[in-house]
Order: sequence, then C-alpha cells, then structure tokens
Amino acid sequence: MSNDGGEGRAAAVPDARFTTLAISGAYDHAESAHHLGALSEPAHLATAQSFPSMEAMLAATAEDGDGWVYTRRGNPTVRLLEHTVAALEGYRADTAVSATLTATGMGAITLATMPLLSTAFGDKPNIVASPQCYGSTTMVFDKRYGQERDVDVRWVGDPLSVEDWARHIDGETRFLYAEAPSNPTVQLVDIPALSELARQAGIPLIVDATLATPALLRPLALGADIVVHSLTKAAGASGRSMGGAVIARHGLGLRGRPAELSADYAGYLRRGPLRDMGAVISPFNAWTILADIRELRGRVDAMSRTALQVARHLEEHAGVVEVFYPGLESHRSHRIAQRDMWLVDSELDGGEAENRFGFLLCFRPVGGVRAAHEVMDRLRLIWRANNLGQVRSTATIPGATTHKQAADADPGRSPVPPDMIRLSIGIEHPEDLVRDLDQALQTR
Ligand SMILES: Cc1ncc(COP(=O)(O)O)c(C=O)c1O
Repeated sequence: MSNDGGEGRAAAVPDARFTTLAISGAYDHAESAHHLGALSEPAHLATAQSFPSMEAMLAATAEDGDGWVYTRRGNPTVRLLEHTVAALEGYRADTAVSATLTATGMGAITLATMPLLSTAFGDKPNIVASPQCYGSTTMVFDKRYGQERDVDVRWVGDPLSVEDWARHIDGETRFLYAEAPSNPTVQLVDIPALSELARQAGIPLIVDATLATPALLRPLALGADIVVHSLTKAAGASGRSMGGAVIARHGLGLRGRPAELSADYAGYLRRGPLRDMGAVISPFNAWTILADIRELRGRVDAMSRTALQVARHLEEHAGVVEVFYPGLESHRSHRIAQRDMWLVDSELDGGEAENRFGFLLCFRPVGGVRAAHEVMDRLRLIWRANNLGQVRSTATIPGATTHKQAADADPGRSPVPPDMIRLSIGIEHPEDLVRDLDQALQTR
C-alpha cells in the first residue's frame, strides 16, 4: 500500500471523467502489480501487517504517515475506497480534497463535528444547524452535544432563509450544519450563500449530501468546506455494508484554530481522533462498497429518473394528499434543486446538462396515519425497510420509525408529518413500482 493519505490520487489519464474515476479509483496498473496483477481490488482482511525485521517495523510505526501497520490506523483496502470517495466528491471542485472513512454515517458526522467543539477553543461553544436532518443526527446534536456537553444547539427556523442562519451566528459558533437534500422531506439549502456566511465567520459549513451522492451534487464545488456521507446508502447500494465518509477541502481557514486542522482536516481526523477513538470501517465493508461505488452515476441516474416518474404519478393520484420531491414544481426547494442538482458530466452526453433530483420522495395518502399504515401493509414489491438508496425500493413511515426518537423529543420542531410515507426508489422497472403503489393505494 502506498503511504499517502486519502486524497483523490492522480488518475491514469489526465482529466479523467467521473465514471472513469469511479471505476478505476486508485487501483491503477501500478497498484495492481503489487497484488499479482489482480484485476479487482483485493480485500485485505487482516488486522495487522507483519515486518521482515525490527528495523522495518520501527520505521513503519514511527512515521506519522498513513501506512498499514495496524488496521485501526490504516488498511490497504480501506485506503483504496478513501481515494475513490475523495476523487468523486472533489470532482471539479477546484481545490485539493481528502477523505477519511468511518464505521457508519453517524460515525462520520460525529468524527467531523466533535473536534470542532473542543473547550480548548472557548468554554461556551454553539452550533447552528438545520432541523431538517436525519433523526439520529438531531439526537447527536441535542443529547450528546447539547445535554451531555453543554453545547448551545441553535436550530434554524427556516433553513431556506439565509438571514435566519446569519441571525444565529456569533463569535462562539463552531460550525454550520445542513443536509442537502434532507431526510426525509428532501429540502435543500443555499450552499453557496451559507458557505459565504461560514467563510466570513471563519468556521466551516458541513453538508451531509448522502441523499444526493457526488453523482448529483458536490457541495465542495459549491463552496462548502466539509461533506459527510453515509456510505451505507446509495454508495453501498447492494445493502451489504455500513460505512461513512468525511471529505474536506484543504486550507479550511478556520479562525483561531490550530493550523493542522485547517491544512487537511480529513487527514488530521484520520491520523488523530479516528485512530485514537477507533470507529474505523471494516476492510470487508470497504471492499463491498468499492464494488458498488463503481456504478454510482448510472445507478443514481436510473433511480432518479424513476423517482421523478413515480412522484409525478403520485401527484396526480386521487388517493394522495401531498408529494414531497425536489423535482416537482410544487416542492419548496425546487428552484434551488434546479440550480444545484445535475447529473455529473451529463453535458458530455451529446446534449445539454440535465437535472436529476435523487431517489428519495415522500407522500401522504388520503386518510391520515391509519391509512398510511394500511398502504404500507399492502405493498407487495416495495420492501418495508428502514434503509434507503438501495437497489431494491424500500418504504417506511419516518415519523413512526427513523425519526420517531427526534419527533418524541421535540414534537414542535419535527418537520415530519406522522402520516408521511418515505419511498426510496431502486432500480426496478418504473411501471412495476407504479403498479405496486396503485394497488397499495386502492380505496376500500
Ligand atoms: C442523511 C443521512 N445521514 C446519515 C445517516 C446515518 O447513516 P448510518 O446509518 O450509516 O450511520 C443516515 C441514515 O439513514 C441518513 O439518512
């Protein structure tokens, strides 16, 4: 394994396109030669590296690099995925970028945010965040940081209002945080405008772009500083592994913080907090995600086209009260989604660049909470399951499942209607999905 960090490594051909980077990753001819010429990346399912001599062991252990040595501090298979994730998220970002991987998406969110809350930087930290977030993220901020560590958590009333964000920021604010699009109501935020606010304050804007994936939205190219992902979702679409990623631009320009945090934040996390605290991804999981991420663009394109078709169908359906999908004109974030969500490199396909709005949508059936549960029970093709971004379509009622804990903790703030069904569209044929939804929405 080469001894470099998780930067997107130079591609075999100059200016390689997104799909080429996804398929090749960092596994080029030279890397393959280290593995007996294997055409696919090997899975290094070993906890540690052995050394031919004490001298070699001391040299590898002493250097503050990213070599293997022990899998908590680095592993060749994990490193290959790190490079691929950095290359895809940093694609056309016009800035150097590194990635570091974690055991889960929540691990990535915790790792990205915790070091910024250090009381060494002042004992009254606050954070400014959109309440339109995944339930566990809300719990980390409210309970783990707010209640247990006395962090002042400032939820923005209207995340689409830049003025509302600005009003909450002061000299003790450590970061701005948003999902784009948000789980489950698929709202966006104005990333360029929030990046500017963050830059003025000398703090980072952190964006969870799990629902978009770099195939549709790359926040770093729009000015954001740090991106987090659950790789458990569309990156690992076959649904075998959990994983998370923190990707950060180099040169964050954090005001009043040690220079090592600003220089290469993701590298700092990997060599310090992650290595010490230990929530690393398993090399086996990284290996399965490496296989899935190769086809990210084509898959997310297909899922997004079907999702738009399903959303339009549901919008016209007599059994549906409301549909939430950023591809619909009726959705509050439609204008920003049209501005920011593009199928990467679609302008090279022989026409104009094309919008894609992702694989997640929600709807409220006529009849309220009871009817929503009945619709769920009638589904035959779509799976009742709490994951999203998978090749198989899934459905859940977030208010009763994924977002219940957050809704129970603060019913007033939760933007999740209790009768709302969340659909994550996979790669089945759109007509079959529509037929399943139609029979599930039948009126008795
Ligand atoms: C937007 C978003 N971020 C983060 C997570 C957490 O990911 P994980 O379950 O891999 O910890 C989820 C999980 O659903 C999510 O939807």
